[in-house]
Amino acid sequence: MNRFEIIKIVGAFLMSVLIITVIGQVGNLLVEAEELEENVYTVAGTEEPAAAEEAAAEEAAAEPALGPTGPLEAAAEPGLGPMAPLLAAASVESGKKLARKCALCHTFKKGGPHKIGPNLWDVVGADKARWENFSYSAALASVGGSWGYEELNSFVAKPGTYIPGTRMTFNGLKKLEDRADLIAYLRTFSDSPRPLP
Ligand code: HEC
Repeated sequence: MNRFEIIKIVGAFLMSVLIITVIGQVGNLLVEAEELEENVYTVAGTEEPAAAEEAAAEEAAAEPALGPTGPLEAAAEPGLGPMAPLLAAASVESGKKLARKCALCHTFKKGGPHKIGPNLWDVVGADKARWENFSYSAALASVGGSWGYEELNSFVAKPGTYIPGTRMTFNGLKKLEDRADLIAYLRTFSDSPRPLP
């Protein structure tokens, strides 16, 4: 191959790159992409921060005296929340099946390791963000209070609504009965399970 041939090959290559680029640009001009008003698909845990903030603001506006977590905390008084009447009749067996969803990120046994989420041994009634060797989100670390039955109910229903900014990317269990079953199962992971409300 002589030098001239090499120059021809390189020239042909550059030419095709140019042509592809030009076609691409022309294509972009001809087909204008319109921005969607809303995402067609929403991926679990990736709600737009603006929307979450708006929701929090609305909640705060509805109950100004209680603050963003006010309404949920208010329901935490013993016997007053929606969870209380369901727990007594809850099925630990069904809770065990539901807990497989959590086991992706959590262990339940005493001394179990943290995974993506912290170990959940004896979590019912425990302080929120109690493990020093787990790095919680600022949101959960600063929220305060403990994991009573109603707090767990609200969190498992919609983690990002109960604690905006939490790193627990879990869509939530929609059905109240399912949450009761699950929490009844969580309760068994303790040396002395909490009394039912
Ligand atoms: C995709 C992973 C993932 C799944 C699935 C998941 N979690 Fe979590 N969970 C986390 C992470 C991460 C945190 C820490 C959140 C933070 O720091 O904001 C957490 C925190 C928690 C906490 C707070 C613990 C503490 O020490 O304060 C509880 C309670 C909890 N999860 C319960 C559950 C339950 C019950 C389920 C199943 C219904 C579940 N999680 C499913 C990742 C997950």
